[in-house]
Amino acid sequence: MFSKDEIIDILQDNKANSEIFELADKTRAKYSGNAVHLRALIEFSNNCKCFCKYCGLRCENKKLQRYRMQPDEIVSTAKTAVGAGYKTVVLQSGEDAFFTRDIMCKIIENIKKLGPAVTLSIGERSKDDYKAFKDAGADRYLLRIETTDKNLYKKMHPHMDFENRLKCLKNLKELGYETGTGCLVGLPGQTIESLAEDILFFKEIDADMVGIGPFIPHPDTPLGDFSHGNFHLALKVMALTRILLKNVNIPATTAMETLKPDGRLIALKSGANVVMPNVTSPLYIEKYEIYPGKAAPADDIIQTRTEIEQKISSIGRTISLGCGFRGEIS
Ligand code: 5AD
Repeated sequence: MFSKDEIIDILQDNKANSEIFELADKTRAKYSGNAVHLRALIEFSNNCKCFCKYCGLRCENKKLQRYRMQPDEIVSTAKTAVGAGYKTVVLQSGEDAFFTRDIMCKIIENIKKLGPAVTLSIGERSKDDYKAFKDAGADRYLLRIETTDKNLYKKMHPHMDFENRLKCLKNLKELGYETGTGCLVGLPGQTIESLAEDILFFKEIDADMVGIGPFIPHPDTPLGDFSHGNFHLALKVMALTRILLKNVNIPATTAMETLKPDGRLIALKSGANVVMPNVTSPLYIEKYEIYPGKAAPADDIIQTRTEIEQKISSIGRTISLGCGFRGEIS
């Protein structure tokens, strides 16, 4: 629909913003319906072996108090979330070697017995691991490419390999996962052109889910003194992704809410159709500090859900009763 040059023009120029947001909203209504899919997010370990320059969980951040939920605790949190009405549980962590293939598989199997769709967001693993997780019942996997600009990728991710990340995404697709990717908007050194390429990349790999959020500096990282990404630019990258990819699932990300009050509701009116309320125990939530000021949920899972449901109905949208696979209108 849009060429790369047209995407660049739209991203650079703010004159047509409201038309773009409206078109994204109409596209969302036509291809994904009016219902918002809620995903219960469990941040089960903040241990991470990676060095991502923007992320507060990076292994060199010695100020962060590390935690690791035990498998039983992860399953019981999932159980509470299912009891509260969630049809999808998202298991997210840093890249933590404690969670071996076997340990992960047992967790997945036990959660699947409770009925929900299971999404994993635990980073780069071998194809055999991905296969074992799939066989254990995992349905979806989130692995943001973060940026498709190879030079920037290298600068942002010491000791990581862009080609391996691509390979992981390809493996996930081949194994039949609904595969999610996405990018950060506003990384130091990122160009508008590379954001246009990010959007075209999502289309090219036929991503099923795309998460887009503004970069937010964390003081205990090498990027602590840079300024945050622009909210409207991130929103526009998201809106254009909706317009181009049509029926994909797009979350209204927490990073949007962190930069702007009601940022998630604005995102829901500009192309997003998913919200991922955080159901992690308050004991851990503040330690999962990818960036500071993460919008805090209520103290208990039921209350968090009630609050988010109220917000969603306040903008005339409903809560999905289904698992919310790509293109499911419920
Ligand atoms: N600001 C915004 N988003 C961040 N993430 C990591 N660090 C930051 C930050 N400082 C995002 C990454 C990752 C996701 C889980 O969180 O895109 O994929």
